Amino acid sequence: MKLLVTGARGQVGAALVALAGVEEVEVVGLDRSGLDITDGDAVFRALEKCMPDIVVNAAAYTAVDRAEDEPELAFRVNRDGAEYVALACSQAGIPLIHLSTDYVFDGRKSEPYFEDDLPNPLGVYGRSKWEGEEAVQAALDRHVILRTSWVFSSQGSNFVRTMLRFARDRDELRVVSDQHGCPTPADDIARALLVISRKLVEGQNSWGAYHFAGHPPTTWFAFAQAIVHEASLRGLSRVESVAPISTSQYPTRAQRPKNSVLATDKIEATFGIRAAGWREALSRTISAIAGG
Ligand SMILES: NC(=O)c1ccc[n+]([C@@H]2O[C@H](COP(=O)([O-])OP(=O)(O)OC[C@H]3O[C@@H](n4cnc5c(N)ncnc54)[C@H](OP(=O)(O)O)[C@@H]3O)[C@@H](O)[C@H]2O)c1
Repeated sequence: MKLLVTGARGQVGAALVALAGVEEVEVVGLDRSGLDITDGDAVFRALEKCMPDIVVNAAAYTAVDRAEDEPELAFRVNRDGAEYVALACSQAGIPLIHLSTDYVFDGRKSEPYFEDDLPNPLGVYGRSKWEGEEAVQAALDRHVILRTSWVFSSQGSNFVRTMLRFARDRDELRVVSDQHGCPTPADDIARALLVISRKLVEGQNSWGAYHFAGHPPTTWFAFAQAIVHEASLRGLSRVESVAPISTSQYPTRAQRPKNSVLATDKIEATFGIRAAGWREALSRTISAIAGG
């Protein structure tokens, strides 16, 4: 199976490229310098040249706060870029797995979100991702939209790396405790993408939207506590206390959902993929960061 992945230098893209060779999967990874998805012609040419069995669109504009100040760029990448990828797939007769986000939801629901719950994004990033989903749906029947959340890995920009940076030179961390979600290791997402790719390429016609996220659900505060604990075990933290604060005590440019816990029953029932616990992956990730 030959898989083409865009955004190959991002957290998910790089994790997928790292799986090249597993179960004889050929992964062609194109980073932004190899393929800018906002260049429609380049996207068509890249697919024509590579002719993969399936495409994974892991390229995205992911700076949630900055998106409020540069909405044109966020929409160009997350909506228009996604549409170009889907149109190119449609023309070439290739299926597409497109990644999306828990931030398409407004967080007002008190239970986990299911795939058919109505999106109502609170900010530019979430809106651009939701419109990207709509563009993919309109352009291509043979698509899977995989929504995930709170992604972390040993590289790139993520909450774990930010907390580790703070933990090195602060005595106290103050972290919001009233936003609930599911941390998800990028390498688990990559493995899930491979399973889905294989089944779609082998003829399973399970198109549509799916949620994939780590378990159990937590808060940024409890996630930070776990990060500091793991960092302390390795002599990477001088933090003495992690204090819970409310969202109102930590205003950010973009509003975030209070609850973006994703229900993962559908992906398990359809593809047999069970979301793994994020706690073990966190330990692995911090060891990898500590090891350089
Ligand atoms: N990160 C999260 O917490 C999170 C949560 C939920 C869902 N998701 C979704 O999961 C997917 C993967 O996220 P991630 O965490 O891997 O993001 P990431 O680490 O920010 O990676 C995204 C990659 O896309 C690239 N990119 C940006 N604009 C591009 C363009 N015009 N053409 C080609 N590549 C472009 C970026 O390149 P540069 O490095 O050059 O900018 C970056 O390498 C995205 O769809 C995201 O919306 C992420």
